[in-house]
Amino acid sequence: MTTTFKGRVLVAGATGRTGVEIVRRLRHYGIDFRLFVRSTQKAITLFGVDEAGILRVGSIQNKEETRESLKGIDAVICAVGSNPADPDSPPPSAIDRDGVQQLGTLAKEAGVRQFILISSLGATKEDHPLNKYGKVLSMKLEGENTIRTLFSTPEYSHTILRPGGLLDTFPFQHTLVFSTGDIISGSISRGDIAETAVLSLTEPQARNTTFELVQGDEEPQVSLSQYFSQLEI
Ligand SMILES: NC(=O)c1ccc[n+]([C@@H]2O[C@H](COP(=O)([O-])OP(=O)(O)OC[C@H]3O[C@@H](n4cnc5c(N)ncnc54)[C@H](OP(=O)(O)O)[C@@H]3O)[C@@H](O)[C@H]2O)c1
Repeated sequence: MTTTFKGRVLVAGATGRTGVEIVRRLRHYGIDFRLFVRSTQKAITLFGVDEAGILRVGSIQNKEETRESLKGIDAVICAVGSNPADPDSPPPSAIDRDGVQQLGTLAKEAGVRQFILISSLGATKEDHPLNKYGKVLSMKLEGENTIRTLFSTPEYSHTILRPGGLLDTFPFQHTLVFSTGDIISGSISRGDIAETAVLSLTEPQARNTTFELVQGDEEPQVSLSQYFSQLEI
């Protein structure tokens, strides 16, 4: 049985495709949250005008905006990602590395105790084809490394989720495979990643862990929490 997280969560990248799913699951569990978004308009369109009061507007590239966004926050779930295919967007080095590192550093300074980061399967593979695009996977690994260092000390916790290719399919429709060592491949629904990220706030096996996750067989699921037992060695 999962215990519902009692603190306040900041969702960074809340208006992204995975971010929206994370907000859905936080609402489902009745967990208190704030949304760190770049666009008020986009957030209101996605979440409704009633959520306008819980928006913290800014970019993870901006130190002051990020610092403001972290006031009164107990845990961060970061679903921010660069868009390496778009030459007009900031590169992975600016978002997946520098932005995530700055968010982590300022979060720790602000008293945040727990950091859940959505990274990517293949982060450790320098020769992965995706690294042709601004070394996105290597930049994610550098971001991860900082979060692991900052949030490993006593009283702190990190969880790094490394999903396979993300799908906009219904959640709770497949078994899941959780693995370590960056040795698996596959894909997974954004909704399943969102649920896993929210469960990671309270699942004991998620504390101070980095793991990859993909979907397995098609089979309706009542809960995803049993998959954390795959992380026990
Ligand atoms: N696509 C895949 O198959 C795949 C596979 C494995 C891992 N991942 C990773 O999983 C995560 C979620 O992916 P996704 O495809 O669901 O994401 P997405 O829809 O591309 O959303 C990315 C989010 O990051 C936000 N963002 C970008 N730059 C920012 C900045 N400077 N400050 C604040 N927010 C910023 C975007 O804000 P706006 O809403 O304002 O644009 C958006 O909300 C990402 O880290 C991604 O790299 C993706």
